[in-house]
Amino acid sequence: MDNNNNIDWAHLPFGYVKTDYNVRCTYRDGKWGEIEVSDSETIDLHMAATCLHYGQEIFEGQKAFRGVDGKVRLFRIKENARRLRASATGLAMAPVPEELFVKMARMVVKLNERFIPPYGTGSSLYIRPIEIGITPRVGVRPADEYLFVMFVTPVGPYFKDGFKPTKVAIYREYDRAAPCGTGRWKVGGNYAGGLVATERAKALGYSAVLFLDPKHKQYLDECGPANFFAIKDGVYITPKSDSILPSITNDSLQQLARDMGLKVECRPIPLEELEDVQEAAECGTAAVAAPISEVDDMDTGKRYVIAADGRPGPVTTELYHRLQAIQRGEAPDIHNWTTVVDECD
Ligand code: PLP
Ligand code: COI
Repeated sequence: MDNNNNIDWAHLPFGYVKTDYNVRCTYRDGKWGEIEVSDSETIDLHMAATCLHYGQEIFEGQKAFRGVDGKVRLFRIKENARRLRASATGLAMAPVPEELFVKMARMVVKLNERFIPPYGTGSSLYIRPIEIGITPRVGVRPADEYLFVMFVTPVGPYFKDGFKPTKVAIYREYDRAAPCGTGRWKVGGNYAGGLVATERAKALGYSAVLFLDPKHKQYLDECGPANFFAIKDGVYITPKSDSILPSITNDSLQQLARDMGLKVECRPIPLEELEDVQEAAECGTAAVAAPISEVDDMDTGKRYVIAADGRPGPVTTELYHRLQAIQRGEAPDIHNWTTVVDECD
């Protein structure tokens, strides 16, 4: 086994790299089976599987970090397990037991240890769990059988500019999810729903679309791949909405903001309030905290300039460093967020 000396760890994009193994588990006859270790990159699927026709596909995203002490840490892994269960329940799928999820995450990281980016490179090992309905059906009904797979890939920053502020765009003609729809779960179809708007925005130099709430089109919802937060007069404000994904990163940043003495408000945020914010960012596992320089309303032409000097704001910068310091074992894990892969619970 080589040590992957040919991987340029510090310049990895956010993309797929083939690793050694993935882990799989199948739900049949009302129960989850044994964990299988596979070295195949493909899945053998019936052409009538419900995931292909009726969208029974959910996923997660979390990271493993090599720490300053050489240990490998998972971040709030049980929260991802719980969210996958919520997504499964939302799509009438079989929920994966929390312990099985955590066990598989530890396994897949250990099995691919040589792909964990070294400490100090800024990169990490991204873990991608997916669950799909595999029963062949033509009538619209949930599957009886499900496949749960976890694979990993070493990644760098989600946005190629890293921590440099980028612009985001608003379009009223596209929603990523419906009111009371699937936006609150991590469902593949939500991302498909956002692709056209996102590709349009990217072609114009924007990093992402900032979606408005699909019911009133008055309040900020979230970005295509991440939640949104802003800093307004020393208060951390973030949208409260039924159509956004409950982000584990956002929840963590709220706690870190409180630790820093900031007030936190989770409430509907009218678009116009962007006039009064001093900082804004996209936040998520992949995005971490990616500062926003400007929000452009593509329908009215109005531009909300947030970082006129093109530099990340002080609060976002502090939050970004505090979060990463915990993930990389540089700061005490006072909220008990990390799990060391080699240590038992
Ligand atoms: N919102 C969307 C649409 C996402 O895809 C993600 C990424 O997982 C997030 C928010 C952030 O969630 P988390 O911080 O749990 O990764
Ligand atoms: C994540 O942050 O883990 C995500 O799933 C976002 C993704 C769309 C890249």
